[in-house]
Amino acid sequence: MDDPRELRRLLAWYVEAGADEAIGTVPRDRRTVAAAAVAPPPEPAAAPVAAKPAPPPVRPALPPAVRPAAAQGVLVPADAAARTAATLAAACPDLPSLAKALAAFEGCALRLTATNLVFGDGNPNAKLMLIGEAPGADEDREGRPFVGAAGQLLDRMLAAIGLDRTSVYITNILPWRPPGNRTPTANEVTVCLPFLRRHIELVNPKVLVVVGGTSASALLGVGDGITRLRGRWQLYRGAPGNERPPIPTMPIFHTAYLLRTPAKKREAWHDLLTIKQRLAAETAGN
Ligand code: URA
Repeated sequence: MDDPRELRRLLAWYVEAGADEAIGTVPRDRRTVAAAAVAPPPEPAAAPVAAKPAPPPVRPALPPAVRPAAAQGVLVPADAAARTAATLAAACPDLPSLAKALAAFEGCALRLTATNLVFGDGNPNAKLMLIGEAPGADEDREGRPFVGAAGQLLDRMLAAIGLDRTSVYITNILPWRPPGNRTPTANEVTVCLPFLRRHIELVNPKVLVVVGGTSASALLGVGDGITRLRGRWQLYRGAPGNERPPIPTMPIFHTAYLLRTPAKKREAWHDLLTIKQRLAAETAGN
């Protein structure tokens, strides 16, 4: 296919399907990898008299973390994967062990299409913890949350109230990038939430900020959209049965939305000042 218009159309088709960047110089057929990961073991040779041993089945090498049950994520129902996630997360006494457990967790298929696990960034002893939705292309490439354009806006907003990554901690609902930056599915959120809940317990912030509607509904369990929620304090109560004190939580507009809708920055500024005041009150005397 040499016609540049055809090539442009093909490229547009790829982008629409979620393949919106080149992340390697060598193509990798992920269907082959996934299919091999779930292929049944080879049948034992039927006739013991076979003169020559059967050649070993040809399979592409699998990346070390990809093993059959995990490879598809879909093979494990979301609630079962979430129970496994909760057990694994509960056993983690600190952030490095949580990051390690998450990196080894095979219950979410997003790990197969992501380049990097995006765990968290900032000061693990921070009083303020921000939770976004999911890594985008820049975060996936760097393995750090909020480093792209939306992250740079977040940094500027934090700077406006005297904060930066040495004084806050940042993570996301999902630690892997959904292909094409699509919205996380309910199952992906369900499966990854136990790790995030443990993440919050280990950082133990005084104040939480949920950045955008997806994070707000995942953590607060409320159906209201972000336009109704933002600017009003909510309580994050943890998983059902959690006995720790609830954490005051402020939902704010997602910074990616603010980039597209600058007129909303006025409301975001108001929310930032509210957060600043609450943080001062929560940390007074410490
Ligand atoms: N948007 C998010 O919600 N999280 C990131 O890390 C980057 C962009």
